[in-house]
Amino acid sequence: MTKPHPQIDRAASSEKPLNRNVSSSFSCYSPKLSLLILAIFVTLFVVFQIRFLHISQSPSSCYPSPASWPFIYQQWQKLKNNCTQDLDPITEKLRISVTFLPLKDLRYSDKALVGHTWFISSLYDCHQEGEVQYQQFPSKSSQNRLLCIKGRDNHDGSWNYYALAWPKALPYNATLMKGLTFVSYNHYSYENIWHGLSAMVPFVAWHQKNNCELPTRWILYHWGELRLGMGPWLQTLMHATFDGEPVIERFDGIKDEDGGDPVCFEKAVVMRHNEGGMSRERRMEVYDLMRCKARMYCNVSLDNKDDNHKAVGMTLLMRTGPRSFTNEPAIIGIFEKECAKIDGCRMTVAYSNNLTFCEQVKLMSMTDILVSPHGAQLTNIFLMDRNSSVMEFFPKGWLKLAGVGQYVFHWIASWSGMRHQGAWRDPNGENCTYSEDDRRCMSIYKNGRIGYNETYFSEWARNVLNEVKTMKLEKSQSNGSASSSNGCMC
Ligand SMILES: *[C@@H]1O[C@H](CO)[C@@H](O)[C@H](O)[C@H]1NC(C)=O
Ligand SMILES: *[C@@H]1O[C@H](CO)[C@@H](O)[C@H](O)[C@H]1NC(C)=O
Ligand SMILES: *[C@@H]1O[C@H](CO)[C@@H](O)[C@H](O)[C@H]1NC(C)=O
Ligand SMILES: *[C@@H]1O[C@H](CO)[C@@H](O)[C@H](O)[C@H]1NC(C)=O
Ligand SMILES: *[C@@H]1O[C@H](CO)[C@@H](O)[C@H](O)[C@H]1NC(C)=O
Ligand SMILES: *[C@@H]1O[C@H](CO)[C@@H](O)[C@H](O)[C@H]1NC(C)=O
Ligand SMILES: *[C@@H]1O[C@H](CO)[C@@H](O)[C@H](O)[C@H]1NC(C)=O
Ligand SMILES: *[C@@H]1O[C@H](CO)[C@@H](O)[C@H](O)[C@H]1NC(C)=O
Repeated sequence: MTKPHPQIDRAASSEKPLNRNVSSSFSCYSPKLSLLILAIFVTLFVVFQIRFLHISQSPSSCYPSPASWPFIYQQWQKLKNNCTQDLDPITEKLRISVTFLPLKDLRYSDKALVGHTWFISSLYDCHQEGEVQYQQFPSKSSQNRLLCIKGRDNHDGSWNYYALAWPKALPYNATLMKGLTFVSYNHYSYENIWHGLSAMVPFVAWHQKNNCELPTRWILYHWGELRLGMGPWLQTLMHATFDGEPVIERFDGIKDEDGGDPVCFEKAVVMRHNEGGMSRERRMEVYDLMRCKARMYCNVSLDNKDDNHKAVGMTLLMRTGPRSFTNEPAIIGIFEKECAKIDGCRMTVAYSNNLTFCEQVKLMSMTDILVSPHGAQLTNIFLMDRNSSVMEFFPKGWLKLAGVGQYVFHWIASWSGMRHQGAWRDPNGENCTYSEDDRRCMSIYKNGRIGYNETYFSEWARNVLNEVKTMKLEKSQSNGSASSSNGCMC
């Protein structure tokens, strides 16, 4: 899965050049030369201070400026010769002064997700109204310094470190990784498709806004702990979105003992707020791109409505085990009956557990109304055409006890431009020995199963089917459908 790094360069600072520098000092130094160097150094130091004050007073900007390198280096480069080059005292001092801080800052453990968060807590995000919040290195706000990382602990993020360093003064023994590196912070899990997707959304947004630039590698963190993979559904979606299997960095071949060797990144983008800060329009654009890319990747026609958008696809996406329907045949019967009353309606029954990623993409592209219990399989809703409908089902007890997280599919529906047509909550189910609003009951309700109410389901299905049918008819008449087939935005 992860290839050896084709694009890693050992920085000029590795062990051998260092030794060479030291030995060359004897042959080149003379007292006069030293004095000359000292004089130049003092002059430049003053210039540098002025420059530095200027930088630290300028407002930080979101955009990396090609403006370069502290002034001092340009001057120094002009003056240097073969002897002084390796002995450049300021570079030497800058290298040594690179300071590593813990990736996870325990002082902010009570505000882990707020503001600058506890991840890379000394640095602030760039945020423009309605856009994704991110950090980028090098950039004007990092004074053109690169992001460096040390350590690969996968149990405690406070044992992994970060620092900023100027490209020509990387810390000793640093490895420079070329290309674009995506650094992801996920508070939950890269295996859960909803939490994983949430962590990926801001990268897709950044990619869209930056000429579709592709990442060379990903570094995945959970609480500052290194993670080496993501769930297969998410991995495939990222493959599709970024036109290639994601390369997930493992730091193989980088020394990890005795404090470890640092790794610095030619260009890095850090995300730690998921889709936080993004407007609904921006989120919809991101989901539009992922939908389009997923369909391309799976060879599903981008506009496979050969029926001129008149047909209505209704899909019952079933679960097995927890939160499955207790009586599937009864439920299939109810929806089948209502579907049959609508001209052009076709119903599909599928099981989320045994569909490949592309089977899910294909199924969703044919679905206008998704009927499914609350569960991770509903993350697929953004793969339907925009304005499609979702009908969700909960077992007993969730409304009072499951917390705000139970509304995630309302949110994804809204963010991806779908219509959440409400939820049915089973009044019956497992009986809890405590009172019904006791939190301890949630462990029983959590994996409850879902019954049915024929009267309610029939009426609900009828209303949604009629609404969708009407909308599709209007759309096919207004001719507004000839879009989407021209490929994706990126
Ligand atoms: C500087 O070093 C380079 C390569 O090591 C060499 O080709 C060049 O002649 C040197 N210049 C001087 C002025 O010594
Ligand atoms: C660089 O690596 C060498 C060999 O592992 C080690 O001896 C040396 O102390 C390291 N230098 C620094 C500054 O860490
Ligand atoms: C899509 O089609 C191309 C060319 O026909 C094929 O190489 C590729 O494997 C297909 N992809 C999938 C996911 O089926
Ligand atoms: C998919 O899983 C369901 C439930 O476990 C099972 O009934 C069905 O036969 C499976 N379908 C295939 C094609 O394996
Ligand atoms: C979705 O529905 C809204 C409101 O009915 C409409 O304005 C919009 O054009 C529709 N979008 C698409 C992509 O069909
Ligand atoms: C829960 O209790 C009710 C009423 O006491 C009973 O009708 C129902 O069958 C019980 N449910 C289960 C799953 O045991
Ligand atoms: C089923 O739904 C109907 C319509 O909403 C409602 O009047 C009825 O009380 C429900 N039946 C049960 C057993 O909950
Ligand atoms: C609708 O589409 C057809 C064929 O794509 C085209 O000939 C016709 O002019 C369009 N009508 C309108 C009102 O745009």
